[in-house]
Amino acid sequence: MKDKVLLSVKGVSKSFIGVKAVDNVNLEVMEGEVHGVVGENGAGKSTLMNLIFGMLKRDSGSIFFDGQEVNFKGPADALKAGISMIHQESSLVQQFTASENIWLGMEERFMKNGIINNRARDEATQALFDEFKLDTLKYNMLISESSIASCQMVEVIRAVAGNAKLIIMDEPTSSLSEKEVAVLFRIIRQLVEKNVAVIYISHKLDEVLTICDRVSVYRDSKYITTANVGDINRHQLVSFVVGRELNNLYPKEQSEIGETVLEVKKLTRYGKFRDVSFSLHKGEILGFAGLQGAGRSEVAECIFGIEKADEGEILIDGKSVRIKSPSNAIQHGLGMVTEDRLRSGIIAQLSVLCNMTLAKLEKYCSKGLKIINRKKEISAVDENIKTLQIKVNNRNQTIDSLSGGNQQKVIIGRWTLSTPRILILDEPTRGIDVGSKSEIHKLMGHFVKMGMSIILISSEMEEVLGMADRIIIMRDGQVVHTCAREDATQEILGSYALG
Ligand SMILES: Nc1ncnc2c1ncn2[C@@H]1O[C@H](COP(=O)(O)OP(=O)(O)OP(=O)(O)O)[C@@H](O)[C@H]1O
Ligand SMILES: [Mg+2]
Repeated sequence: MKDKVLLSVKGVSKSFIGVKAVDNVNLEVMEGEVHGVVGENGAGKSTLMNLIFGMLKRDSGSIFFDGQEVNFKGPADALKAGISMIHQESSLVQQFTASENIWLGMEERFMKNGIINNRARDEATQALFDEFKLDTLKYNMLISESSIASCQMVEVIRAVAGNAKLIIMDEPTSSLSEKEVAVLFRIIRQLVEKNVAVIYISHKLDEVLTICDRVSVYRDSKYITTANVGDINRHQLVSFVVGRELNNLYPKEQSEIGETVLEVKKLTRYGKFRDVSFSLHKGEILGFAGLQGAGRSEVAECIFGIEKADEGEILIDGKSVRIKSPSNAIQHGLGMVTEDRLRSGIIAQLSVLCNMTLAKLEKYCSKGLKIINRKKEISAVDENIKTLQIKVNNRNQTIDSLSGGNQQKVIIGRWTLSTPRILILDEPTRGIDVGSKSEIHKLMGHFVKMGMSIILISSEMEEVLGMADRIIIMRDGQVVHTCAREDATQEILGSYALG
């Protein structure tokens, strides 16, 4: 069944001012195949997909789909031809319901006498949720009030609703927990049964090796190779991606653990979490494991002053504090990389430089003055770009023109510049390629060696196990278990997280 070529990309190139994002690249996808696309941040994966989907116009090369050469003028043409795409960054309309979003641009099928029959549309949505057994989703849920995971599922269903022959998924699982990833894989298998092809982009190479038939690798805008997943192992795939051997993804060193710097006592936010108590020590990485929705991010948001706790107490250096806002938190020596980069991390229209330095502008002011010393600011930013190996054209480009993973690195760079005493990292390596991931882990090690303390929230158990000195497991808004690094295993974490 998988011997008919559905999509063939031949020698395609695309440049943006000053950068060649895609350079003479190939890709071949069969009918009913799940084809992995992997590569480092900025390798050109999303750009290539946007070229296939007609969002961008290629400079040269050709694309064949379903037996014909195609030159889509826009996504509408691609959709009509049978290609749909789940974008890396959410493209849902926040003020709309799930149902309105799913059929956006396809409403005519529910049109009667010039009026959309909302009920028919909602029923169609519910039918899709039923078909794919997504019982936690509701057709009328408002996107702005839904979790990132639910939103990602809505995006998947939107792509499925168009009856496409090829569905492009650009990092569809970046915000999903293991349980939801399993659901997505079930959906993909259901699609393959119907001979639909899927292009699956992910930095989670284990997922790629699980769900894909073949995988194509890209590096520095160029096509490297395509392999049958059955013929390669994880180690080989990693070296294809980074272009060298990578041996230690979790370079955890033992750092000296000192006095308590942060103490949280019976912190409660009604409806979100309750009675959360823990302490964080100098030089310590404290891991928070659990499923999406267990309340970990909400706890972090209360500590950082984004949300208000209803009960409980927070102590810094033994003194009780009331943290009213993030800027107040920063004054108390806290920093935070939030889970949702788009909603609360980046300021899209501002430059890389501004996004990096905005947390502590006074650092770049000359003594006693309220004027920024540009030279100082620029050299700090440039150095940071170099250490974090952020792929930018120049520091003044807007952050939204960077690849997803590189945006994330800028956010992390914000805190390497302002060096808080306590850093909260909520899913810090989401969307980050394997090579950079190990760099970020190294950086965390470096931070704690300097005496910083880190709270690491991650849905990747391996990451928590690999990096944390102690691990707190949360479930349904409560701490259910705490254990030292030596005593923790995947099984223990899993069983407590699931209950
Ligand atoms: N609109 C744009 N203007 C300028 N440069 C761009 C634009 N879009 C993408 N680029 C550049 O093209 C290169 C490839 O980016 P792309 O988003 O395709 O990478 P990616 O492989 O998807 O990375 P990631 O894994 O981080 O998502 C990057 O260097 C990026 O900065
Ligand atoms: Mg991308």
